[in-house]
Amino acid sequence: MKAYPISDFIYGIHADIETADLFEGIWPIPQGVSLNSYVVRGGKTALIDLFRDWSDASGQVEKALVSVGLDFGSVDYLILNHLEPDHTGWLREFREKNPRAEILATSKGVNLIKSFYHIDRGLRAVKDGDTLDLGGGKVLTFFETPNIHWPETMVAWEPLSGTVFSCDAFGSFGALGDRLFDDEFTPEELAFFEKETLRYYANIVSSFSVFVERGIQKLAGLPVKVVAPSHGMVWRKNPKTIIDRYLRYAAYAKGPAEKEIAVIWGSMYGNTKQGLDAVIRGIESQGIPYSIHRIPDENVSWVLADAYKSAGLVLAMPTYEYAMFPPMAYVLDIFRRKHIYGKTVLRIGSWGWVGGAKKEYEAAIEGLKWTSRDPLEWAGAPNGEDLAALEEAGGNLAKAVKAG
Ligand code: FEO
Repeated sequence: MKAYPISDFIYGIHADIETADLFEGIWPIPQGVSLNSYVVRGGKTALIDLFRDWSDASGQVEKALVSVGLDFGSVDYLILNHLEPDHTGWLREFREKNPRAEILATSKGVNLIKSFYHIDRGLRAVKDGDTLDLGGGKVLTFFETPNIHWPETMVAWEPLSGTVFSCDAFGSFGALGDRLFDDEFTPEELAFFEKETLRYYANIVSSFSVFVERGIQKLAGLPVKVVAPSHGMVWRKNPKTIIDRYLRYAAYAKGPAEKEIAVIWGSMYGNTKQGLDAVIRGIESQGIPYSIHRIPDENVSWVLADAYKSAGLVLAMPTYEYAMFPPMAYVLDIFRRKHIYGKTVLRIGSWGWVGGAKKEYEAAIEGLKWTSRDPLEWAGAPNGEDLAALEEAGGNLAKAVKAG
């Protein structure tokens, strides 16, 4: 690992995390994730954001520091924009290697340093607009950006290079390999990261979309030339791309989103699947893009990403023990937590003795501000009449999404 110059006094450093562990203990990262830190050198040296010691992150970062003549002991100021342990898990080890560095965070962040890491010396609480003079004309300014992603979050701004160090904001899943900047990736790689940015946003940030909009508004007056998040690539060629992308994603939380449909389905013995095939024929007849996700086979992480960006949803599930198919109940619980709002939704499914999903379903979607189309349910295997109605319902859903 090496340090990547962002300017003649700023370096980006990233540790690539490639692990079977789940991010936040929930979300798969089969293509990894990067944990980025930044060095800003004036007369004094600041390190912005740390890491959790996954995949030998400490070894990766140490090598990068050594490549520019530094080590953990040469850091004068450690700036913690956000205290979630993916950026701070190694803090006690850092403190052992460097007992003298001053650690800066918001006052809420300082409280978390004390409670998570039992460190209570050498801490400085900063607030909106406070500055840190590193000497040699290099000054960092801090702006509080609460709830992107936790309440204590802030960003750091360096005006000479026009760099905003934004931590989780503008981040993405996906390991970076031996590159860091947006202009170093091929169009195919950028498309991969775009998908991983959406999945990261839907999984981690979507519930805080109102704060994303507020935070971006707050920083709107800054002449940003470089967006340097603590996950994913650094945007120096097209910083507006990632800012606009985050604004677009934040707007999805209010609905409607893209004119697409996410089909989420589970089937015990194929009867719900037969009905779903008819719905899909209807959707295809209208030429609208759709994604399809079978549960519980597919992890909810990807289901969330496509559901979040789509204006329309199809939820296909059998009745199970007089109630909802349990994997769908789980998906809807996650949707509620992650603010999957404002969708136009068609629910379908097969039942055995009696229906029963309706009551539980309606309770599960309360508050999601969905427009529910008339649900279609049938006993056992769908007959010809059922299939015709299902195909028509799929076509009508697609028309409604297109018109939305
Ligand atoms: Fe990357 Fe909310 O931590």
